[in-house]
Amino acid sequence: MKGLILAGGSGRRLRPITHKTAKQLLPIANKPILHYVIEDLVGVGITELGIVVGDTAQEIEKSVGNGSLWDANITYIKQEKPLGLAHAVLISEPFLGQEKFVMYLGDNMFEDSLHDVVDGFEKSSTNARLLLAKVHNPQSFGVAEVDEQGAIKGLVEKPENPKSDLALVGVYLFDSTIHRAVKAIEPSNRGELEITDAIQWMIDENQNVEHRTLKGWWIDAGKKDPLLLCNELILEKIESLFLSQIGETVTLKGEIVVGENVEIIDSNIQGPIVIGSGVRIERSDIGPYVSIGDECKIEDSSVERSVIMEKSYLSGVTQLTKSVLGREVEIDGKESEVQEPTSLMLGDGTKVNLKNG
Ligand code: TTP
Repeated sequence: MKGLILAGGSGRRLRPITHKTAKQLLPIANKPILHYVIEDLVGVGITELGIVVGDTAQEIEKSVGNGSLWDANITYIKQEKPLGLAHAVLISEPFLGQEKFVMYLGDNMFEDSLHDVVDGFEKSSTNARLLLAKVHNPQSFGVAEVDEQGAIKGLVEKPENPKSDLALVGVYLFDSTIHRAVKAIEPSNRGELEITDAIQWMIDENQNVEHRTLKGWWIDAGKKDPLLLCNELILEKIESLFLSQIGETVTLKGEIVVGENVEIIDSNIQGPIVIGSGVRIERSDIGPYVSIGDECKIEDSSVERSVIMEKSYLSGVTQLTKSVLGREVEIDGKESEVQEPTSLMLGDGTKVNLKNG
């Protein structure tokens, strides 16, 4: 089987972070989401991978390269415009050929083992296998209507009046029938070729479309809160590792990963937390659930439940919570009157002054 990772799209819901950064490269516990996706596929023996890329192609190619890091072969497939998930399949036919494949959305992460998901599919006569998960807000997802016998009756993309709370998770298994389906459908009202319409076409053609229901968590990290939740869920699983020595003026609690050349002085660190290389922390309370990218500098600050990307600088920022900070962000909060939790989402290079006046 091959793997098709979708890493194009426009990432509107994560602006301003995605003005400069591909959302699939946003770090979860200091590792890009896309790297987790590749590891997941390679982990079940799928090493022939196609990655659909859009405007952020260069950045993605720089991060992933030719796949040798994972012993995988990567083919990049350029999508000129984000014309939909089914359009991404349409342009990938030359790469996929007649083989069965796993399509994996490059901004999705889930807890269940991919082994259980792909198990038996390759040798079966099944034309498509979908993954479903219960959600509270089905209006925001592709939703499946399942009959009493468990067969999928229909699929609708972001329905106003959903017929179930079962959303399509970002992993789909297909055989070559999908190529006929994506050619048979028309663009939707929002101008995209919808994968739900392509699968609906397969159901209407009496193709064998089955589903599995997820047991663990699933996150579409394409928005701020899910991204932060994903960071927390992954940090829950880390085990302490120190690549730098930490002095006696520091209190350490919980699971903590510290990179090389890290200096921490007069501070309290509460895991789970991941601290990249070359970071300096002084007179601060950090954690829980914080990921700090390489070469950040934090002084006289308190931070929890946040993702801070490389080379950012925080000084005198108190009670920073549920924030996503891009690269080289600078926040100066010294003498600020703000004494309540502050939650920020800042794109690369943003400078914020929280001082009075
Ligand atoms: P979405 O999150 O549904 O779309 P988007 O990236 O355009 O985001 P937003 O709505 O915030 O603007 O896409 C899911 C994944 O599929 C994501 O990794 C981007 C990718 N994708 C493509 O590769 N090609 C496409 O045409 C589309 C729509 C998405």
